[in-house]
Amino acid sequence: MDINDKLVIAIDGPSGSGKSTTSKGVARVLGLRYLDTGAMYRAATCAFLDAGIAPDDTQQVIAAVASAQIEISTDPDIEKVIVNGKDVTAAIREPEISAKVSTISTIPQCREVLVAQQRKIITEAVPGIVAEGRDITTVVAPDATVRLLLTADPDIRMARRKRDLDSNIDAAALADQVLRRDRDDSKLVNFTDAAAGVIELDCSDLSLAETIEAVLSLVTHRP
Ligand code: DC
Repeated sequence: MDINDKLVIAIDGPSGSGKSTTSKGVARVLGLRYLDTGAMYRAATCAFLDAGIAPDDTQQVIAAVASAQIEISTDPDIEKVIVNGKDVTAAIREPEISAKVSTISTIPQCREVLVAQQRKIITEAVPGIVAEGRDITTVVAPDATVRLLLTADPDIRMARRKRDLDSNIDAAALADQVLRRDRDDSKLVNFTDAAAGVIELDCSDLSLAETIEAVLSLVTHRP
């Protein structure tokens, strides 16, 4: 199926902006599939760590990612990620993976491999899909039906991430997960400025329900 024949909603933005929850919510309301591309970067991180490869052994990391078999659920109600036959659904959320995932996201050859897999999932999704991740609107699906950049103030993003994680997390670990990761990731991908044709939605003052409503309204009233 051609990407232009169906509804593809692409949502990018920085850590803690609410991309995942918003995207899942929109997919549920519209009966679409859902793709969490960040989960694929996390799964690729599991793949090279499980193989005992050191993060600074770039060639080995690239080889491990190129050969990794990543299976990811696109049902917004079922979170499941399998890499090389192993269920890593819970493991990809561990702090060690969050801390090391930038190894993958900062190597262009790894990005190429994952971007190709993501394009395939989007192309095959029936009847359409909400896909989210840092480079969705610009690199993975620049021809999506609707492209959005979800933003929020850094303090609000840190507070949201804190709520998602262990609320006892210290300030330094939280800043590492949100601000340092965004800084590293933004070396290769610009997810802080809306590209041409991408609508920016600042959800600093919006609840989750209001953010989902705002996205649905943009989808319904698209030109
Ligand atoms: O959204 P997340 O925190 O689960 O993403 C995990 C990491 O993967 C994050 O450090 C950024 C990176 N990533 C990326 O570079 N490009 C994407 N499309 C999705 C995630």
